[in-house]
Amino acid sequence: MEGPDGSGKSTQIALLREYLEKTGYDVIITREPGGTRISEDIRETILNPEFREMSPVTEMMLYASARSQLVAEVIGPAIDSGKAVISDRFVDSSLVYQGMARGLGVDTVFEINKVAIGDYMPDVTFLLDLPAEIGISRKKDQKELDRMELESLEFHKKVAQGFRDMASRFPERIKTIDATLPIEEICGIIKSRVKELLDA
Ligand code: TYD
Repeated sequence: MEGPDGSGKSTQIALLREYLEKTGYDVIITREPGGTRISEDIRETILNPEFREMSPVTEMMLYASARSQLVAEVIGPAIDSGKAVISDRFVDSSLVYQGMARGLGVDTVFEINKVAIGDYMPDVTFLLDLPAEIGISRKKDQKELDRMELESLEFHKKVAQGFRDMASRFPERIKTIDATLPIEEICGIIKSRVKELLDA
């Protein structure tokens, strides 16, 4: 599940989990960056608002490291034993935030991430698409902002546009959904795509 900050990913993840469990799957939910002892430790470093001097390459490597540990410890073993994995963000976030918004280049970031994820690319990615202004204002109402959320509106606009570009680059894998639709409607779109994949 991908999308800019504040796009409602957690709600949709919970609803998708219910659906998959009803169809008989054991479901594992992960979040990025995080989900293992080491990855959560890396998360603290990445999102610490005091580390304003962090270089874009360092940032990209840290996200990839957190992801690599999550794949090795949690995602890989779960998939290999037939479970379904729903991840709150995955490699597309790096391609967009670090590759596009930070300007490191999608191909460079993908090369590094291939090492981190191996064969465990998602079967389907849902992009909850939301104008940057709305996402950020939803977040501001919720909590103190982390290092990424403190970035400029211009940065978050690049992120929102970057996700749309990724979706047109990988139309088979990435399904874009208007995140301003009612929760039930979004959930319906997600379920029907997942059902299609399961039936196939
Ligand atoms: P998180 O608190 O999980 O944000 P959200 O609730 O919006 O998903 O923080 C993750 C932040 O890290 C978020 O701003 C997106 C950013 N991010 C990247 O820049 N690159 C990545 O590869 C990932 C996974 C997240």
